[in-house]
Amino acid sequence: MRHITLPETGTAIAWRKAARSCLAEGLMPADVSWGSEQTERGLFDDQPVSGATTPLKMTAPRSFVALAETVCWHRDEDRFARLYQFLWRLKDTPHLVADRGDRELAHLRAMEKSVHRCQHKMKAFVRFREIGDRDDARRSFAAWFEPTHHTVEPTALFFARRFGDMDWRIVTPEKTATFQSGELRFLPGQPKPDFPEDASEALWLTYFRSIFNPARLKVQAMTSEMPRKYWKNLPEAATIPDLIANAPARARAMAEAAPTLPPVRARKARQQLAGLESAWSGPMETLPAAIHDCRRCPLHKTATQAVPGTGPLDAPLMIVGEQPGDQEDLTGKPFVGPAGQLFDKVAQSAGLIRKEAFVTNAVKHFKFIPRGKRRLHQRPNSGEIEHCRWWLDAELAMVRPKLILALGATAAEALTGSGANILQRRGTVEQLADGTPILLSVHPSYLLRLPDPAEREKQMAAFEDDLRLAAEMIATLTARSAEEATPIAGTHGRL
Ligand code: URA
Repeated sequence: MRHITLPETGTAIAWRKAARSCLAEGLMPADVSWGSEQTERGLFDDQPVSGATTPLKMTAPRSFVALAETVCWHRDEDRFARLYQFLWRLKDTPHLVADRGDRELAHLRAMEKSVHRCQHKMKAFVRFREIGDRDDARRSFAAWFEPTHHTVEPTALFFARRFGDMDWRIVTPEKTATFQSGELRFLPGQPKPDFPEDASEALWLTYFRSIFNPARLKVQAMTSEMPRKYWKNLPEAATIPDLIANAPARARAMAEAAPTLPPVRARKARQQLAGLESAWSGPMETLPAAIHDCRRCPLHKTATQAVPGTGPLDAPLMIVGEQPGDQEDLTGKPFVGPAGQLFDKVAQSAGLIRKEAFVTNAVKHFKFIPRGKRRLHQRPNSGEIEHCRWWLDAELAMVRPKLILALGATAAEALTGSGANILQRRGTVEQLADGTPILLSVHPSYLLRLPDPAEREKQMAAFEDDLRLAAEMIATLTARSAEEATPIAGTHGRL
């Protein structure tokens, strides 16, 4: 029996390396025992290997590599052995990785989902407290968190990207992630430290109270989204019992105070309230044709055709890009060229299902300058974005998505009105006037243009994180609306 001890840090990479060399030696799953630095060794570990077969060479399917990279952070002690067992089966039947009927694959997928959920909770529920001097050049923060799985390491990069301009540490019972002067390191875990009181906590409490909508209170949905085990480390959770207790009275008061809208004007008034009123007001099914006929700016003169959005009209997610590229202009469909193909690839590994989204662009005509036989993309200017906002507003009013994913600076400008640096805003959530969340990210063509392979890899990982966050937000928002009570007229708050 060969025993392999995997390190606490860099576990996923170490598993991959070890699995590759076990395979190369032809070691059968029964001949390998796996553990981490914390697990106890078995009685028969390190006995001579009995059944080694011929050395093997194989290339694992990419989707298995991604699966293994996540499953390695699961708490189950059998995770490494399960993965190796499955890899062993894959060498003869590579298509197994897509076999939905395979029980072992289903088990691994469930483990993957559980790790992703834990990462999502960590991103949502880590609460930093300021521990340094506010006047220091780099401010210092610390947080205590108790993850279900070993997710500190795979999630730390997310925090490093988001809080790159400050020093911070996330302490957990098993591992501590520290980020100092731009360097991310992992140290052993610690018991819960005593952090100083933080003045910003009062702000959190006020914010939480103000977004709480008593008319939409569903205790079960709330506790499934914010499980009680996290409450003790969330400052805002202290307000929950009080908010729940007072919710019925507050909801009654809100209903009494709500204006009663005459039915004919109700829809229009709601749209105005939501800030989604487009000047275009034809029947929704004629919208693509109206976009095709658009002459609102000179871009229609050189483009082959306008490219309206496509996808389900009740999609929970709307993806907004910049403008059609060369291939989109020829085919009349958004995101079918190289940028779209890259998006599809990353979306697939992030668990974001494109066909369930409505995909469109901020500007509907291709803007380019001819160079010989080629048409070189030109970024639309603010005037063109503003003219085309007419159509984007109409698409928004038609689809009413729960979440918008803005890809790149042009989409961000069209949706938020702000042209501020997208690299500093990416991965954050802004809002439409009606409160619809807009998750900002970079445009896939930015990734295609990056010359340095290391930088491209880093940015691709960040892009995948953004798309995974979009998938998680959609899952959360969809589950929440399924649970929500029938909305009471005139209330716009969200829990
Ligand atoms: N880039 C975009 O922003 N949209 C497309 O449809 C294609 C490329």
